[in-house]
Amino acid sequence: MPTELLLWSHHCVIYNHTRVNEQHAHLFESVNKLYLRIKDNAKQDTVLANAEALYQDTVTHFREEEALFSECTGDQFTLHRLQHKHYLEALRGFCDRLHSDINLSVESLTDQLRHLADWYQAHILTSDKQLEDISSTPH
Ligand SMILES: [Fe+2]
Ligand SMILES: [Fe+2]
Repeated sequence: MPTELLLWSHHCVIYNHTRVNEQHAHLFESVNKLYLRIKDNAKQDTVLANAEALYQDTVTHFREEEALFSECTGDQFTLHRLQHKHYLEALRGFCDRLHSDINLSVESLTDQLRHLADWYQAHILTSDKQLEDISSTPH
């Protein structure tokens, strides 16, 4: 298995949005850290703490990102907000499964996290890239 799920590259950079890039890079690190913890069979408390931190940081990031296009209208922004909502629901579901008594294998958990990570990377490369067309300060 690879040691990292998400690899930062110049393709991920959103021009003129330094704070967004910093948050994306931080979230990549958090996903990779959680992946390693799960893969190494770390104590459940540690895995849960990492997963909840990732969830909270993602909530904060989406809120700040949405403030950048809060006054923008059009299908692409409506879709962007919905994508955030659905991703958070999926990430919440993942955290809830970690909290549950269900005995999930390392393979199952890493598969679930890989699915979330793939979605997140694709989101940056498509929807978040559209932020390049708007100002880096909220309207
Ligand atoms: Fe986004
Ligand atoms: Fe983003």
